[in-house]
Parts: sequence; C-alpha cells; structure tokens
Amino acid sequence: MTTQYDSITLKYNAFRNMPGALFEKHTVEKTLRPLIKGAKVLDLGCGSGHYSNLLISWGAAQVVGVDISPGMISNARARSESDRVTFLVGDCSQPLSIPGGPFDIVFEGWLLNYAPDRASLTNMYRNIATNLKDGGRFFGLKPYPTEDPRGQLELMQKYKPQSYEYVSLKYVGDVEDGVAFLACAERPAKFEFKAYWLRESVYKEAAQQGGLTGEWKWEHPTLPEDDREILGEAADMDGDRAKLERVGRFALVRIDKD
Ligand SMILES: C[S@@+](CC[C@H](N)C(=O)[O-])C[C@H]1O[C@@H](n2cnc3c(N)ncnc32)[C@H](O)[C@@H]1O
Repeated sequence: MTTQYDSITLKYNAFRNMPGALFEKHTVEKTLRPLIKGAKVLDLGCGSGHYSNLLISWGAAQVVGVDISPGMISNARARSESDRVTFLVGDCSQPLSIPGGPFDIVFEGWLLNYAPDRASLTNMYRNIATNLKDGGRFFGLKPYPTEDPRGQLELMQKYKPQSYEYVSLKYVGDVEDGVAFLACAERPAKFEFKAYWLRESVYKEAAQQGGLTGEWKWEHPTLPEDDREILGEAADMDGDRAKLERVGRFALVRIDKD
C-alpha cells in the first residue's frame, strides 16, 4: 500500500515546526496536558508521531499510534525515543481492533478530514467509539465547525497571517457533504496534500451513527499569551493575532463516551 503521505514524510516533519502549527500545538497542550497523566492513549492518523511523542512527554503512560501510511509509520518508529509508544500501520476507515485497548483517551490530529463522505466518517467514529473505554474521552483536531466550508476557506485566504507561516488551504471542488481542498505549503518545504472539509452537521451525525453519542464540546483555539518565542521579535504580532483570532481555522472537539 502506498499513500499520498509516503512521498512527503520528511517535508511534513518540517511543516510541523512552522509557527502556525505551533499555535495549534499550544491549543492541544493546554487542553490535554491537565488530563493525560498516566493515561493510555490511542492516536489515530498519527503520521510521523508528532502528537504521539508530545502526549508521552505531557505524561501519558502509553500511546499507540495508527496511520495508513507505511512511510509515516516507519519515520515515526525511527524518530521515537520512548518505549512507551508503539506505531502500527492501519486504515482507520475500516474496522480496527487495537492491541492494548480500550483506551482512556482517543486523540486524532487531522484524520477526520480524510473522510470524503458520511459513510467513511461514520466508520472512523465507530473505530474511535469501539476503542474508547466507557467514560473515556475523545479529542479531535479538525477543520473549524461550519455549515459553509467553502465560505470559511475564502475567509481564511482573505485573513491569511503574514508573520505566522501558515499552511494555505485551497478550494478544489464540491463533494456531496462539503468540499475537497488542497493544503499547500511553500516554506520550509514545498508540498501539498488533498483532504475534505465536511459540513459540521455531517461530522455530528456521523459521530452519533458511529456510536459516539456524548455531548460535543469545543475547545476554541488559543494563542499563547506571548508568542514572541514562536514568532521572533520581528513578527507583526498585532496584525496577525487579529487575523488568527478573527477567522476560525481549526478547532479541538471533545466528546466524552457515555
Ligand atoms: C495531516 S496528517 C496528520 C498527522 C499527525 N496526526 C499530525 O498531527 O502531525 C494526516 C495523517 O492521516 C493519515 N491518514 C489519512 N487517511 C487515513 C486513514 N484512512 N487511516 C489512517 N490514517 C490515515 C495520513 O497518512 C497522514 O499521516
């Protein structure tokens, strides 16, 4: 099996250190760190292990990362420094029974946006629900909640920050439940990948149908109080903070399993 990520693994790692991505990491850390001590965590669509390794460093007892791309998984294994993290190749849109489960927390970082339609999304949620303990928590990093993904893409282009190097999302076309887009980066490495942004009601209905019936809670993106550390002194902090705060680019959803 080869996937679109096999050929961009190394470039992807560089993109993960862009300032825009550090802003995302800040939001995830602020939300998960207080809850993660001693937890057994499943990281779906783990890629090269960016969040799997952070989850360990924030206090998780054990992390299992799963990704469809053999290239990303082999890079994740090569980069990992902890024997408390395991990486497996697997397709999260097909039924998965993960060794070591069920888990206290299931996390996904940008996996759900690979579901092109409701059926595939429902299968992903079913995997989340079946591998999560009763009373466990799901956290998902996904496109911003909206019924108009195309309109949101246009707003993101209009208010694109200049000093935060940010991945650019370009509209490709409509699909039945939303839009297809290309995520493109020029720096620090040039690459692109295709994904989907479905309407928020479709994400919610698919979660219910997949067995994740708890209440949806949104952790809205937050910027660090002082982003000088991330951006450097030269950054246009005021202008770009305003742009980032004005237009939702992503959000972290939390659903507790009943
Ligand atoms: C944008 S990357 C995110 C990687 C990692 N979570 C992170 O935040 O750095 C999306 C990942 O989802 C994986 N992926 C896409 N479709 C998948 C599927 N059906 N099952 C498992 N992984 C999938 C890709 O191979 C890729 O590594």
